[in-house]
Amino acid sequence: MKPLTTPTFPALAIALLTTLLPLTTAKHIMIPSNSFTSQSTFDTDWSYLYPWGSDHNGAARMSKSQATLSSSGTLTLTAKRVDCEKPASHGGKQIPIRYLSGAVHARERFNVSRGGGYDFSGEFKAPTARGTWPAFWLTGVDSWPPEIDMAEWKGSGKISFNTFNTSSQVRARDVDYPSPGEWHKVLCEVRDGGNGRDVSVRFWMDGRVVETQYGKGFVGKSMYL
Ligand SMILES: *[C@@H]1O[C@H](CO)[C@@H](O)[C@H](O)[C@H]1NC(C)=O
Ligand SMILES: *[C@@H]1O[C@H](CO)[C@@H](O)[C@H](O)[C@H]1NC(C)=O
Repeated sequence: MKPLTTPTFPALAIALLTTLLPLTTAKHIMIPSNSFTSQSTFDTDWSYLYPWGSDHNGAARMSKSQATLSSSGTLTLTAKRVDCEKPASHGGKQIPIRYLSGAVHARERFNVSRGGGYDFSGEFKAPTARGTWPAFWLTGVDSWPPEIDMAEWKGSGKISFNTFNTSSQVRARDVDYPSPGEWHKVLCEVRDGGNGRDVSVRFWMDGRVVETQYGKGFVGKSMYL
């Protein structure tokens, strides 16, 4: 693990990770834990920015320059204050851009099959300073929702776990997040919840179950990681 110099700028470090399993058969690793150790292993499974580009609904614009890999298997995403960027546009509104930051997304898209599921896991060092908002999430490819925030740190000192059925029907749970300078393991078990339509999401942190939520109609829907 690579020690992070602490931030003048907020940085999110992720040692990875992920995913898994057709439950009916043998476990299948879709993203190996060495995927951040070199550019070539990264390029096999990941791409830079959001799947739709550099901007979303906040004051940070994603840039490849803000995402760095290290041979120990860590991805570090660092935000940097900028001026003079052109505004982003989201939902018909202009949003001033104040930061450049980093994002990566999996090349593979994921959908929970009937009776199936995935495990998504990673180890994170995430800042909780006010104004920062690092996140590890799934969101719909063809529609929104689905959205499952497998871990979000909204600058409040807590870690949040959220599942959206609609923009107003949301289960959101904030949990104490001790020692943000240390590594914490997050595991999300996303499964067909039993009726072939809804998924269950069991959130683990540091080896303990902290929350279970349900996503309405997420089975079979394609999601970005
Ligand atoms: C979302 O939908 C699922 C399936 O119907 C339900 O179990 C869950 O309680 C809903 N979540 C919220 C926040 O209402
Ligand atoms: C769901 O995943 C399966 C297996 O990878 C794939 O064959 C199918 O096309 C996917 N469905 C959608 C809606 O993306």
